[in-house]
Amino acid sequence: LGMAPPAALLALGLCLSVSHGSFLVPLRIFSGGHNFSLALASDPTGAVNFLDMVDNLRGDSGRGYYIEMSIGTPGQKMNILVDTGSSNFAVAAAPHPFITHFFNTALSTSYRSAGRPVAVRYTQGNWEGELGVDLVSMPTGPNGTVPINIAAILSSDGFFLPDIHWQGILGLAYPLLARPDSSVTPFFDSLVRQLGIPDVFSLQRLAAWMSCDPQMDWICVCVCSQIMGGTEPTLHRGPVWYTPIVEEWYYQVEVLKLEVGDQNLDLDCREYNTDKAIVDSGTTLLRLPVPVFNALVDAITRSSLIQDFSAGFWDGSKLACWMKGETPWRFFPKLSIYLRATNTSESFRITILPQLYIQQITDLDGTLDCFRFGVSSSVNGLVIGATVMEGFYVVFDRAQRRLGFALSTCAASGGLPLSEIAGPFSAADVASNCSGGVLKAPVLWVLSYALIAVCALVLVVLCFFLC
Ligand SMILES: *[C@@H]1O[C@H](CO)[C@@H](O)[C@H](O)[C@H]1NC(C)=O
Ligand SMILES: *[C@@H]1O[C@H](CO)[C@@H](O)[C@H](O)[C@H]1NC(C)=O
Ligand SMILES: *[C@@H]1O[C@H](CO)[C@@H](O)[C@H](O)[C@H]1NC(C)=O
Ligand SMILES: *[C@@H]1O[C@H](CO)[C@@H](O)[C@H](O)[C@H]1NC(C)=O
Repeated sequence: LGMAPPAALLALGLCLSVSHGSFLVPLRIFSGGHNFSLALASDPTGAVNFLDMVDNLRGDSGRGYYIEMSIGTPGQKMNILVDTGSSNFAVAAAPHPFITHFFNTALSTSYRSAGRPVAVRYTQGNWEGELGVDLVSMPTGPNGTVPINIAAILSSDGFFLPDIHWQGILGLAYPLLARPDSSVTPFFDSLVRQLGIPDVFSLQRLAAWMSCDPQMDWICVCVCSQIMGGTEPTLHRGPVWYTPIVEEWYYQVEVLKLEVGDQNLDLDCREYNTDKAIVDSGTTLLRLPVPVFNALVDAITRSSLIQDFSAGFWDGSKLACWMKGETPWRFFPKLSIYLRATNTSESFRITILPQLYIQQITDLDGTLDCFRFGVSSSVNGLVIGATVMEGFYVVFDRAQRRLGFALSTCAASGGLPLSEIAGPFSAADVASNCSGGVLKAPVLWVLSYALIAVCALVLVVLCFFLC
């Protein structure tokens, strides 16, 4: 889990070298005992009962979240991983040592190959295959069987992992990220068009460390779900706060400010959004651009009651362990992210408690409880991943081009919430456009041109004297 920095740099390098057509899709496989279920609602006209469709998305400890789908005629049942950071619907169509079964296109009378090759590279793993179309239905989803673009995965590398219980991936982002190009209509776009469901879905999940063991102190009364075609009021508490979607490719948002405890990191707000800030269910951690990450670690170190923290804890190479029963959360501050509100002169704040970002690793035994840091540095933008999303009910309101955050009924421990939302705040103290692109690069370019000019001058002078 988590990518070694050299691999990250290499991936970025590859990505930058191959033009606009190839974005790096930040898929991260979950690890930890998550519990997650999916609910679907489809009827925009009639009464929608979300709850009896809840509990249909099963999370397996450590290998990702998936929903069940039936593909082809007759239907072949597959478990499909949910990812809001990519846009292809892809299923294994050939055997692979790490998967139990695959979609056999030859056994489906309705499968039509489009005869086009397709490949997707994620930050973790990649696959290649061919495009086709087949009928898809979701036994626990909207009522209907619709033709959907499918990428049949024929070969892959680092994509399927040992012991996973899914055979494909459902990318829920916009057509711009679809491979090989945006003419391949993504799954949710097809669903909305063909079934007439609202262009909205929402996600809610149970935090990794939460146990449903009644012996323990955690509250576990919720069913955690993904809802397609609407929002379900009983899955959140209080109002939904909305932030505009800056650009429709990833779910890109605008981050205005970060706070550790009540201390503002006080960086130029464009730092938070270089080269983009996105909300991605397929990324495990909160990922921050390097300067932001360093400022955050400094601030946490200053305000934490613990003096000597191994650098390895912050960079993810070490766990921090305490004697069993000694939970470390009281030593750490809250983290807050300010997002631009739909009234652009205002912002609102989403806050996660240490319980969400100091994450217990459940499978270790012995006399210690071990924790990892749920934040990492990033060379390709800020990613609001599962570490943060777990605290909230997140509405992907594509119809109104905005993302909504509300307190999740899931995210509570011993009756105490693990997340907070507050607003509105004035956004007068930050730039009017924090997504305004490159902050450092122009300066660096000017600097490098200046250096080249100086070198050239020196050469000319040297030549002159030599001659
Ligand atoms: C997930 O939650 C369901 C109830 O919603 C429970 O029956 C199941 O045991 C839980 N699974 C895990 C791995 O905690
Ligand atoms: C699904 O649609 C079919 C045909 O339109 C209908 O007969 C059936 O009752 C529907 N099922 C549900 C659960 O709405
Ligand atoms: C937007 O927020 C500003 C500052 O709080 C307020 O003065 C203005 O009335 C708001 N605009 C709308 C349309 O609500
Ligand atoms: C902010 O700047 C980016 C990049 O220049 C641009 O694409 C975007 O439309 C701007 N947003 C607003 C609200 O002006």
